[in-house]
Amino acid sequence: MGVVTQAEQDAAAESAAAAWLALLAAAGRGTAVAGTAEPAPPEAAGWLCRDADGGWQMRPSLPQAARDLVSLYLPLCTDDADGWVVGHLGQSLDGCIATHGGDSCFVTGPDNILHLHRMRALCHAVIVGAGTVVNDDPRLTTRLVPGPSPVRVVLDPRGRLATEHRLFQDEAAPTLLCTAEHAQPTTPPGAAGLLALPTDDDTGLRLDALVTALAARGLTRLFVEGGGVTVSRFLAAGLLSRLQIAVAPLLIGQGRPGLSLPRTERLADALRLAPRIFRMGADMLYDLDLSPADGGCTDGAEMAAGALADAGGVLMRVL
Ligand SMILES: NC(=O)c1ccc[n+]([C@@H]2O[C@H](COP(=O)([O-])OP(=O)(O)OC[C@H]3O[C@@H](n4cnc5c(N)ncnc54)[C@H](OP(=O)(O)O)[C@@H]3O)[C@@H](O)[C@H]2O)c1
Repeated sequence: MGVVTQAEQDAAAESAAAAWLALLAAAGRGTAVAGTAEPAPPEAAGWLCRDADGGWQMRPSLPQAARDLVSLYLPLCTDDADGWVVGHLGQSLDGCIATHGGDSCFVTGPDNILHLHRMRALCHAVIVGAGTVVNDDPRLTTRLVPGPSPVRVVLDPRGRLATEHRLFQDEAAPTLLCTAEHAQPTTPPGAAGLLALPTDDDTGLRLDALVTALAARGLTRLFVEGGGVTVSRFLAAGLLSRLQIAVAPLLIGQGRPGLSLPRTERLADALRLAPRIFRMGADMLYDLDLSPADGGCTDGAEMAAGALADAGGVLMRVL
């Protein structure tokens, strides 16, 4: 592979930036782009066109950088009212999302962090567990990309979080604190709203009730950004339509686990998934479609058939 010149890098960045604006518009999230009153229609720049079913598809002959971006995000730019729930974790090669003490800044590199901000821009609501708020004090906004910040949803069944956390105070986006019905605080923390959820003994907060309650507020595209406990519970509840795992070339050693699922005795019973794989700098993003309509799973032979091609771009779809 030849040396990439500065001019080629600039052209790739420019086409990716333009493709991103088209994707935002296709997702109906373009209104906050760059101060424009009316978002440009997704077709305007020639990046996307309508397919026979009225959905969006990529135009042929896009520059590679735009192509990679469009193929990753286009499945999330749907017009359907059903929406989606995507879980994401950034983990080390040894399966940890943070050190034992909770340090997770940063497991994955800048390209994956940019991806997180893009996912926030595409979703209606971003969901995190109380452990993430305690350790990271995140803002969960779209500071790095054009696009609106989503509603921020925090799962805090016992109402244990302090009101000082940034997302309760900064008013950068609407924020909802979800507690168990029996633990409902009398006053919401900072500017947050309260959402009381039913519980069950095994899994804690009823996540199906959460998804229904958010849908009733028009929030149907949900991004579950962590941590491991929260994403695992969404996965175990069968509520994820996609799972995204970014693997960084990092060994943490006895850190906080990523996915933690019930035990499987026989490998034949394990869930084997058909991935799309995207390169993000030094990290690899596994994008796994879990929706039953697409079959989600495959067998080992099919998996082996997908060869990992030589990755030339910043972000590249392989399968
Ligand atoms: N690398 C990454 O992708 C990434 C992303 C986010 C966070 N992190 C790191 O991961 C660590 C936090 O992850 P974590 O797995 O320990 O915690 P977490 O998933 O952020 O939060 C777990 C807590 O959230 C509450 N919760 C979540 N789902 C619930 C449900 N269905 N029912 C009831 N309660 C629920 C519970 O609170 P209670 O404990 O009060 O019961 C639970 O203990 C931090 O170190 C953070 O820095 C890494």
